[in-house]
Amino acid sequence: MPPSNIIGPESVRTSITLALAFTFISDLLFTQPSELWSELGCWTLLPLIFKATNGQGSQYDSGVNRTQKRSLRALWAFAIGFGTFSAFKAEFGEIVLYPALVPLLLTAQLILGTDTFPSANCKWLSASFAWSSAALAVFMILVLPYEGIWRSALSTIPIAAQCLVLTLLLPNDHTKPRYLPHLQGFREVISVLALRVILVLVVLICLQTLVLGSTTDGLGRTSLLAVCKALSWYFTSESATHTTWIIAPMIHTAALLTSTNALHRFFQPHTVLHMFLPHFSVAEMILLLKKQSRQCQSLLFLLVLPLIPVIANSWAGQVATLDARSTYADLVDHPIERKFQIGRQQLQTLLQGQSSTYDAAVEEYRRRYNTDPVPGFEAWYNYSISHNSRIIDDFSVMYDSIAPLWQLSGQQIIHMTESAYAKPGSELWLCDFESENGRISCKHPWRSFDRNIELSFNQYLGGLKGAIPNVRFLVNHLDEPRVLRLVSWQKTIPAFVNLTVMSHLPTWNAITATCRLLPYPSNLSDDNDGNTSGLPFITSHAASLDLCKNPEYRSTHGLLQSPTSFRLLSGFIPILSTGAPSTMGDILFPSPAYIENEFQYKKEKDIPWDKKINEVYWRGSTTGGYANDGNWRNFHRQRFVTLAQDLQQRYHVYLRNREGFLRLVRSSFIDRQFFNVAFTRIFQCQMEYCRAQRMFFRTKPWADKNRALQSRLAFDMDGNGISGRFYQLLASQSVPLKQTLLREWHDDRLIPWVHYIPVSQSMEELPELVSYLILSGMGQSRAKEIADQGRKWFSEAFREVDMSIYLYRPLLELARLQDPPREASVKR
Ligand SMILES: *[C@@H]1O[C@H](CO)[C@@H](O)[C@H](O)[C@H]1NC(C)=O
Ligand SMILES: *[C@@H]1O[C@H](CO)[C@@H](O)[C@H](O)[C@H]1NC(C)=O
Ligand SMILES: *[C@@H]1O[C@H](CO)[C@@H](O)[C@H](O)[C@H]1NC(C)=O
Ligand SMILES: *[C@@H]1O[C@H](CO)[C@@H](O)[C@H](O)[C@H]1NC(C)=O
Repeated sequence: MPPSNIIGPESVRTSITLALAFTFISDLLFTQPSELWSELGCWTLLPLIFKATNGQGSQYDSGVNRTQKRSLRALWAFAIGFGTFSAFKAEFGEIVLYPALVPLLLTAQLILGTDTFPSANCKWLSASFAWSSAALAVFMILVLPYEGIWRSALSTIPIAAQCLVLTLLLPNDHTKPRYLPHLQGFREVISVLALRVILVLVVLICLQTLVLGSTTDGLGRTSLLAVCKALSWYFTSESATHTTWIIAPMIHTAALLTSTNALHRFFQPHTVLHMFLPHFSVAEMILLLKKQSRQCQSLLFLLVLPLIPVIANSWAGQVATLDARSTYADLVDHPIERKFQIGRQQLQTLLQGQSSTYDAAVEEYRRRYNTDPVPGFEAWYNYSISHNSRIIDDFSVMYDSIAPLWQLSGQQIIHMTESAYAKPGSELWLCDFESENGRISCKHPWRSFDRNIELSFNQYLGGLKGAIPNVRFLVNHLDEPRVLRLVSWQKTIPAFVNLTVMSHLPTWNAITATCRLLPYPSNLSDDNDGNTSGLPFITSHAASLDLCKNPEYRSTHGLLQSPTSFRLLSGFIPILSTGAPSTMGDILFPSPAYIENEFQYKKEKDIPWDKKINEVYWRGSTTGGYANDGNWRNFHRQRFVTLAQDLQQRYHVYLRNREGFLRLVRSSFIDRQFFNVAFTRIFQCQMEYCRAQRMFFRTKPWADKNRALQSRLAFDMDGNGISGRFYQLLASQSVPLKQTLLREWHDDRLIPWVHYIPVSQSMEELPELVSYLILSGMGQSRAKEIADQGRKWFSEAFREVDMSIYLYRPLLELARLQDPPREASVKR
C-alpha cells in the first residue's frame, strides 16, 4: 500500500514545509569555512533526533546476515559520496549544477526499472516527467547566477557523487532501498549511514587542515547551521518516507533557488524571472506528489514559501527607499549640493584664471614657480595656443616634483640619472629625445618589451622636432611609484642613489618618513567647508590624497600595506611615473596604458543615459596589494567589494530626515540592488590567502570592459597603480565615481564634483552618496550633469594634443635641469 495513504497529506505537508524551511535557513547560513564542521555536527545529531522521535532508535548494523554484508560495504561508498559533496561545497561554494540532480535521478530510476509513479502505473509518464524535469533543470541552471566555466565543470564531480549515492538508495518499492533491502526506509538508512559519514568527514577535515590549512567560522554559526541541517534532513526523510525519495533533491533545489533569490527585490521587473525560479521547482514537486497520491493539492500553498524572503527583503528595501525619498523630497541643501557649488566655483577659477597673452603667461610662471620661464617656453606657448589648450598655467603637479631637483647642479642631475639607471635592480628605462628628428628611443638594462613607453612618447612628442632640446630621462614602467620625495632643504645633498626593495612589506613608515621634516606641499586648502555633516565627502582632491594629514590611511590601501614589487629609490632623481602618493616625487606623465586599445572609449559601445541601468557598476581583480596574511581585508579593492556586497555585518551611516532635521542615522541596511560589484579574479596572494578570499567574496565571471557603460554610475579605483579605465569612463555618458590615493598628471585640470564624483578612502559616505544619486531626482540630474560635463571636458582638455602639450613642459624643464653648466640653487 502506498505510504501516502497511511499518512495523511496533512503530515506530509508539514514535513515538506519544515524541510523546505530548514533547508532554506541552512542555505542562508551557509559559509564555506563552516561547511565540513557543520556537516559533522549534523550527522552526529541526526541519529539522536531519530532516536528521540522514534522511541526505539535504530539497530546499527546489528544482526546482519551474509548477503547483507555486501550492501553494508556499499554503505561506505554512500558515506564517501556524501563526504565528497560536502568537501566540494566547502572548497568551491554552492554547487551550481544542483538542479540537474532531479532529472538525473529520474533517468536513473527509469534505467533501473523503478517506477517513479507506481499509482499511475505507466512508464511513459515517468519518461515524460524525466524529460520535462531535465528541460526545467537546464533552464534553472541557465538562470542561476553563472559563476564561470571552471566552477560549473568542477561541480559535475559532487553532482555525480550525490547522484550515485541517491541512486543506490532509491527504493525498488516504496520503503526499501534497492541495495539495502534489510533496512526499512530512509530513517534507518540515515541512522546506519551516520557513523560512516562521520568517519569520512573527520578524515576530510584532517586532510583539509593538513593540505590546505584549517578554516572555521565561529562556533555559534557552525552549531546553528548543524542543527538546521539536521532538522532539514530529518524532515526531508519524513517527507521522503511517505512519498518518494526524489523529493529530497527537489526540496534542496527549491531551497537553493529561494536562498539565491532572497536578495531580489519585488518591484524590479528584471528580477521577476529570478523570483519565480523556485516556484518551478516547487511546482515540479507538487506535480510529482499529485501524480503519486492524488491527495496533495493542499501542497499548493507551498508556492507561497519562496516568496517570503523576497517579500521580506522588498519590505526592508522599500522602507529604506521611502525614508530616503521623503528625506530628499523636502531637502534643498543636501551636503552634496554644496560640493557641487564649490566644484563649480573651482571650475570658474580654473577657466578664467588662464593667461591670455604670452606676457601674462611669463608673469604667471614667475609668480607660481619663482623662477624665469624655461628656455623654449615661448615656442611651447605658441604651440599650446595654436592647439587651443584650455590649460596654460596650471602645472603644479609637475612642478612639485621638479622644484626640489633644483638643489642639484646640472652635472649632479646627469650623474644621478646615470647612477639610478645603472643601479642593479632599479628597473628603469632610459629614454633619449633626439631633437633633430624628434624621435625618442628607450632602453633598459635587460628588458626589451616596454609596455608602450617608447610608442606613447613618440606618439605624443613625435611632432616636436627641434622644439625640445636633446634630453635624457628615466621612465618607470612599473605601475607603482618609485621615488621618495626628499624634502629637507639641507646643505649637503646626498649624491647617491638608495634602492630599497619593499615587495610584500608595509611601506607606510618609509614613504611618510618625510612628513616629519616638512609638510609638503605646504599649502593645501583645508578639506573642511564647515558642513560635511559628519560624512567625509571630499572637497579638496589634494587634501584627500595627503598621507601626512591622514595617518589613518596606513591600513586602508594595498600599496601602503603590501605592494607587489615596491622598489623605492631615494635621492634627487628625476623619474617619470604614471601615479604617485602625495609624499613621493615621481614626475607624473600620462600613462601609456591610455593609448592601449583595451582602455579606449568606443562610442558605439555607449548608450544614452536614459537607457543605462541606475546602479553602481564595478568589476575587477584583486590587484592593489599582495595578500600574505590576513591583511587583505584592509586593501582598498577588498574593502570596497566587502562594503558593496554587504559581506560584513556593519552599520552604515545615512542622512535622514528626523523630526524635520537632517540627522545622521545608523542602519545595517545597504541596498544591494544599487551595487553591481564583484571580483572576477583572485590573485596576487599566497595560496592560503587566495583560498580565504575565494571563500569570502562571491566572484563573478570575467566581464566585458565596456559593460560599465551600461550603468549610470561606474566605479573606478586604484589597482597596483593608477586605473587605466578612468578615461574610458570620463569620456562616456556614464559618471565615474572615483576613489584614489595617487596623484596623476591630470590633477590640475580635473575638478571633483564637476568632472567626476570623488569617493573618500574610508568610503563611509558611499552608501549615502549612492542613495542620493540613485533615489533623489536632484541626485539623478546631478549625476547626469557631471557625466555630461566630464565627457565634454574630456574632449576639450584630454585630447591627444593635450597630452603632447603637457609632456612638452616636463621635457623642457628636464633639459634645463640637466644643462651641464647650471649651478645648484634653491628656487622656493
Ligand atoms: C610665437 O608667436 C609669436 C606671435 O605669433 C611670434 O612673434 C613669435 O616669434 C613666436 N615665437 C616662437 C618661439 O615661435
Ligand atoms: C642610503 O643608504 C645609506 C647606507 O646604505 C644610508 O646611510 C643612508 O642614510 C641612506 N640614505 C637615504 C636617504 O635613505
Ligand atoms: C596659503 O594659501 C592662502 C590662501 O589659501 C594664502 O593666503 C597663503 O598666503 C598661502 N600660504 C603660503 C605659505 O603659500
Ligand atoms: C551647516 O548646515 C546647517 C544646517 O544644515 C546650517 O544651519 C549651518 O549654517 C551650516 N553651516 C555652515 C558653516 O555652512
